[in-house]
Amino acid sequence: MYAERVLSGMRPTGSLHLGHYHGVLKNWVRLQNDYPCLFFVADWHALTTQYDDPHGIVDSSWEMVIDWLAAGVDPERATLFIQSQVPEHAELHLLLSMMTPLGWLERVPTYKDQQEKLESKDLSTYGFLGYPLLQAADILIYRADKVPVGEDQVPHIEFSREIARRFNHLYGREAGFEDKAKEALSRLGAKRARRYQDLRTRFQQHGDQAAIESAHALLDEVAGLSQIDRERLGGYLEGTGKMILVEPGALLTEASRMPGLDGQKMSKSYGNTITLREDAASVTHKLRRMPTDPARVRRGDPGDPAKCPVWQWHQVYSDDACQSWVQQGCRSAAIGCLDCKKPVIEGILAEQAPMRERAQPYLDDRRLVREIIGEGNRKARHLARETMREVRDAIGLNYA
Ligand code: TRP
Ligand code: SF4
Repeated sequence: MYAERVLSGMRPTGSLHLGHYHGVLKNWVRLQNDYPCLFFVADWHALTTQYDDPHGIVDSSWEMVIDWLAAGVDPERATLFIQSQVPEHAELHLLLSMMTPLGWLERVPTYKDQQEKLESKDLSTYGFLGYPLLQAADILIYRADKVPVGEDQVPHIEFSREIARRFNHLYGREAGFEDKAKEALSRLGAKRARRYQDLRTRFQQHGDQAAIESAHALLDEVAGLSQIDRERLGGYLEGTGKMILVEPGALLTEASRMPGLDGQKMSKSYGNTITLREDAASVTHKLRRMPTDPARVRRGDPGDPAKCPVWQWHQVYSDDACQSWVQQGCRSAAIGCLDCKKPVIEGILAEQAPMRERAQPYLDDRRLVREIIGEGNRKARHLARETMREVRDAIGLNYA
């Protein structure tokens, strides 16, 4: 019914690392070729856990956007913006909060998990409890039907669907819905309108499924019908109200196979990262120091790639020929660990070279980044305002 639209957000964590690249950004870059995409800096989300230390958020946001651009996110294709610069998110969050049962929020799995994980922080706050609702507002305000997220975020998408459904159920029938639907009907032309009425009757009186499909097909054929009239007629057909908020779906991103330097998940808090634009000397240094199979004490000791984090990196960076060279060379001690690491170092540096190149103009002139975000904020705000007009209308908060 609406154009397919992708939306995703990322908390500003400062410089991104290769785990972000392989886990998230590569996917964004792919998606921007196929869909209209909106990608935003979730700076308010950072405050839900970092309310006591907000100082770095702005700088982290700018750094992160430069990394997005470095990774190949293209501002000509995707709209890049900052959550707090589109304050309509907050308005929708507030309005949705009125109809959100507390139990729904308390049952979101990340709520208890995160509270336990970050137990040094007092997260018994209103904002932290409401954070999935803020995320729902982020999504619903753009009527995004596709939300690329990692597995941990899937319950949040499910929660957003439930919120959309509840909202549509409570407020979907705008004031004067019948009259507006009939008005829309008159715009179909007499012949089509008669056919529509006939199909509608067949569906509503006899539950004729084929009739409703034909009616939808008929609506699809009509050119020049406004989106809103199309929806009204869709709703009138099925005897439901107007769908105001669109139920989103998760676009599950495959978990990144990119482990950290120590073989654990790559994460800033483990200190095992390589950043997207880390300089070559540092990359080389870190890789040289990277632990290998502990059985290889001396150069002549054979090893087992399965026990070595370097092997996991070969699986990301090396082709089949190189991988079998590693397998054989390691097990027979024909190669040393430093030899083995060389192709990985080269692979990383080759991957980073275009990123560094893309980032350079933005580092030389930060105004370029501000312009991109300024433009993105404007575009996003335009879309958000449109939804908010309908949301206020549906609730009846219209003072015009
Ligand atoms: N909650 C997400 C995270 O912590 C970030 C986020 C905020 C988001 N709003 C969103 C992701 C909307 C997708 C859609 O990673
Ligand atoms: Fe790891 Fe390669 Fe050394 Fe084997 S040769 S232990 S795979 S670094």
